[in-house]
Amino acid sequence: MTQASTADFVVVANRLPVDLETAPDGSTRWRRSPGGLVTALEPILRHNAGAWVGWPGISDIEVDPLVEDGLQLHPVTLDADDFEGYYEGFSNATLWPLYHDLVVKPAYHRHWWQSYQEVNRKFAEATAAVAAPGATVWVQDYQLQLVPALLRSLRPDLTIGLFLHIPFPPAELFMQLPWRRSLVEGMLGADLIGFQLPGGADNFRVLVRDLLGLPVSRRAIRPGNRTGTIEFDSRTVHVGAFPISTDSATLDRSARSRAVQRRAAELRADLGAPQTLLLGVDRLDYTKGIDVRLRALEELLAEGRIDPHQVCLVQIATPSRERVDHYDVQRRSIEQQVSRINGEFSTFSRPLVHYIHRSVGKSTLAALYAASDVMLVTPLRDGMNLVAKEYVACRTKVDGALVLSEFAGAAKELRQSYLVNPHDLDQVKDAIVAAIEQSPAEARRRMLPMRRQVLTHDVARWARTFLTALGRAAGRPVMAE
Ligand code: ADP
Ligand code: G6P
Repeated sequence: MTQASTADFVVVANRLPVDLETAPDGSTRWRRSPGGLVTALEPILRHNAGAWVGWPGISDIEVDPLVEDGLQLHPVTLDADDFEGYYEGFSNATLWPLYHDLVVKPAYHRHWWQSYQEVNRKFAEATAAVAAPGATVWVQDYQLQLVPALLRSLRPDLTIGLFLHIPFPPAELFMQLPWRRSLVEGMLGADLIGFQLPGGADNFRVLVRDLLGLPVSRRAIRPGNRTGTIEFDSRTVHVGAFPISTDSATLDRSARSRAVQRRAAELRADLGAPQTLLLGVDRLDYTKGIDVRLRALEELLAEGRIDPHQVCLVQIATPSRERVDHYDVQRRSIEQQVSRINGEFSTFSRPLVHYIHRSVGKSTLAALYAASDVMLVTPLRDGMNLVAKEYVACRTKVDGALVLSEFAGAAKELRQSYLVNPHDLDQVKDAIVAAIEQSPAEARRRMLPMRRQVLTHDVARWARTFLTALGRAAGRPVMAE
């Protein structure tokens, strides 16, 4: 820290790592925010003693800067119109579906775009006020793609990185966006733009070449390296792939602890001691393919390929973006599927699907990972999917099985999982059966290399690799290396 109100290292993300919640009696308290972005960045910020600029999760509320659990937080106020236009609208009903392969149809509204521009400006101004002279600012994700250029015009002294946690689509899809040029120019305000996978970085380079007619370097894009470059506005912008990960050593340690082992055994007993426990853990999002795994399970039960007396599924689904139409539709459809399966196949001793529509604590989650024989991760498209990596990190006995969609970024690293195309229901069904029936030797053969990958490529390494590349791109070491 340079002085009380400024910082040498600043993370700016739509959400703070904690959300302010209002209880029915009107009192407020801080709760951990949902999603992979917060899971990944929180340990990095703690380690670097930086500041976090973000929205506190409730609209129309002014919150002063505060230190919460050791983190320096700078809340940005969003009013009800910002929430609707910028957050629910442009971020989550335009960009989110557009970047996830049009899983649902994106909506394009001029007043949402207006709101997105205004709120990005608000974030850029808040960040400019918090960053110390020459500070490093790390902008996160699709909600803030205009911030790099806005911030650079306010504070040319800063080193600015941008990381996109979600996929970056092929140019043919991105070109639908009426404001495509402004959005790309906003991103190009950064010194380094990081994507999850080389494919996303390639898509961006092709787009910049075709849309803006800018020269881009031909160097191959390799994960973790400072790779392609783009010449823009008399500056060089670097572009690369940096696959995000989880705090694997902490998860491994937690899963080995006596408390978590005990909780895992209790959970299995509470669930009626099924022979095979299947698990799904997701935000309730239409990209996650929760419906896909439920359909596969229902068909397997109906065909008698799975015995309802031997198997049960725990599906944890964190509430997410609940007022956005497609989320509401997805929730209703999942809840119908769950009750249909339970109506048809539950036994007197237990329901077949335990559906939990809320967040669970970290140690319960670790116990669930440790207790489950088969983890089902079946998104139609996902930037990375940390849940898949968390499951692997918690399998300290080198057993269990991961059924993983090839459309999740994690599939590029977790090659020994049961990889499936979530659009191919027969393949998903066969993979679930194979995972349930696998021998201990097969489990070990698959899990060992995946554990090696996840334990050696953790979130600290991700951040270090990105920040080192950012320092090189800006021509000076960044504050938080
Ligand atoms: P996304 O960022 O799209 O939500 P990820 O799988 O990358 O997807 O990250 C989700 C993060 O949220 C993981 O760290 C996971 O442990 C956590 N999470 C998901 N569902 C729950 C839940 N019901 N309770 C607690 N944590 C959850
Ligand atoms: C994904 C996005 C994050 C987002 C998180 C939770 O991980 O990449 O940017 O914070 O989902 O979504 P929410 O809309 O609740 O912030």
